[in-house]
Amino acid sequence: MSLRLGDIAPDFTQESTEGPIHFHEWAGDSWVILFSHPKDFTPVCTTELGEVSRLKPEFEKRNTKVIGLSVDPLEDHKAWAGDIQETQGSALNFPLLADADRKVSDLYDMIHPNANDTLTVRSVFIVDPNKKIRLTLTYPASTGRHFDEILRVLDSLQLTDSHKLATPVNWQPGGDCIIVPAVSNEEAAKLFPEGWDEKKPYLRLVKQPGK
Ligand code: BEZ
Repeated sequence: MSLRLGDIAPDFTQESTEGPIHFHEWAGDSWVILFSHPKDFTPVCTTELGEVSRLKPEFEKRNTKVIGLSVDPLEDHKAWAGDIQETQGSALNFPLLADADRKVSDLYDMIHPNANDTLTVRSVFIVDPNKKIRLTLTYPASTGRHFDEILRVLDSLQLTDSHKLATPVNWQPGGDCIIVPAVSNEEAAKLFPEGWDEKKPYLRLVKQPGK
């Protein structure tokens, strides 16, 4: 059965470019982005891994570790890393799981046989420090992901975990937020003493706290 939001991310031990990874232990108290790519030595994947390496400081600012996966063997991952550095200008700086036995791909339902029966699709899982799955995304092999969107979701999750807020369409950090409907106006007055813009009783916009 496929994994759903709120499920505990399954634990596993698997080989990686940084040695064996015991997933829950490796994640520790961090948020995690676990993502699969279809195949080493392919063009779209090369651009994605270069971009994730470039963005690593942004993930670190958000107490987030990144880890990639494909069903290729470790030797291929290591050989490909040189191409990523050469063509993308950033060296691979996070672990890539070598899931040749499909242990993790099967656990996370990353192979969609009607799309391709041997390669992983472009899956993304955001896992929180309690090991709960907070986002799942599935992209086709032909479409590279936009990792700024993954960062945006992380920002939204981390903000809304600590305030009784949600974030509206196309929200960007610093933009107005939404007071969740479960909060009464009386409680909102205590939480957001600077007030809010009430478009409808259920649509109350408020400045992002601390901005
Ligand atoms: C790519 O990364 O370029 C790619 C991988 C598998 C299928 C199609 C494209």
